[in-house]
Amino acid sequence: MTVSRRDLLRFAAAFPAFSGLARARLPARARDLLPANPAPDDEVAWERIKREFVIDGLHLNTGTIGACPLSVLDATIQHLRAFERIIGQEGIDYPAFKRELEVFVGAWPGSIAVLRNTTEAMNNAAAGLDLHAGDEVLSTTHEHIGGRCCWELLARRRGIIYRTFTPPLDPDSTDELVAAWQAQVTPRTRVLSISHVLFSTGMLQPVAELVRWARARNIITVIDGAHPPGMLVTNAQAIDADYYATSPHKWLLAPPGTGLLIVRPDRIATTWPLIGSGDWAAEDIRRFEDVGTSNGSLVVGLRAAVAFHNSIGREAIELRTRSLATRLYDALAEIPRVQLVSPRNAAFRTAMVSFRIAGTTAEKLQALLGAARIRTRRIAEFGYEYLRLSTHIYVLPRDLDRTVALLRGAPS
Ligand SMILES: Cc1ncc(COP(=O)(O)O)c(C=O)c1O
Repeated sequence: MTVSRRDLLRFAAAFPAFSGLARARLPARARDLLPANPAPDDEVAWERIKREFVIDGLHLNTGTIGACPLSVLDATIQHLRAFERIIGQEGIDYPAFKRELEVFVGAWPGSIAVLRNTTEAMNNAAAGLDLHAGDEVLSTTHEHIGGRCCWELLARRRGIIYRTFTPPLDPDSTDELVAAWQAQVTPRTRVLSISHVLFSTGMLQPVAELVRWARARNIITVIDGAHPPGMLVTNAQAIDADYYATSPHKWLLAPPGTGLLIVRPDRIATTWPLIGSGDWAAEDIRRFEDVGTSNGSLVVGLRAAVAFHNSIGREAIELRTRSLATRLYDALAEIPRVQLVSPRNAAFRTAMVSFRIAGTTAEKLQALLGAARIRTRRIAEFGYEYLRLSTHIYVLPRDLDRTVALLRGAPS
């Protein structure tokens, strides 16, 4: 949906100086006119939304860190400035903030701990379980350090077994993926540690189906959900995992240093907190959240990020970012030397596309695009050597066309 004529007239009446549509940097109220629920191909609307960002160049690496829109930057900075007044600091309506977050990610009331990132949230889950030597944690060969190292630490320290397998990376069906996980489970398997979206290829995994199957066998599920919230419409209750970890500073476009751990209510009181601070013995979610003095301005920024997403529409953002990725995927597929590693089936693709180009390396491709001020992610982990491109809402079709043209001409 585009901004209506009535909206524009209302806007012009409120801000006469802007009636000529010179809107590069708008005052806060004018930003309320962000298009709501734009169609995935409504380029006027997405061009308008792109102007909410201060990105200098082209950002194709949201998978590592998102860019905050102006409303998030302003809210964070304003709160920080008020904090430094010392007297007259601004309070945060924490219960309201938590309710908004719960609605956004579909979490149970009182189930979200606000932490620093996915890495910390995964560590809270891993260290909070009573696992013993010989207990097995099953995962894949495509885990990010942020979802993997917590188990490697437990393996070294307590003798748990962290076992990985390679799932089908180009599946035809959900059943194929579920069956691949099931085939790996042994009588010693206590935990499935599952990336909702693989960092390496952007492949979506059937987490709800895996959780249902695991629970029926008393196997605990820990989901590394670093990417979905802000990219895919996410409903934690429908997934129903024991623990779901995420980083709003990626696709949700919140300030760096914001993480969430969603704990299934029946697990809260029996999971050990990672840090012993004032509330460690509380039987509610505060036991994970109280880590001593921390930066409340980040919470304010996170709240503004949720509002920003809601004003555009979660479904609209998912449709747009995934359709951009499909456009990119299809354009790359036309280049003879390109070997795509993201799934062919669009149902398993998200808003990250990974590939190789025969005769060159991801390092060289990253340098080529970097010279054109395009930020990308090289997946060098485990020797994979892919280039990964993320397509968030500040990316336009013409940006992708330019990127693909550069890649087509990549020297061997
Ligand atoms: C799948 C996955 N898990 C965990 C992380 C770690 O995120 P953070 O650094 O925010 O903890 C990342 C970061 O890229 C990731 O892609």
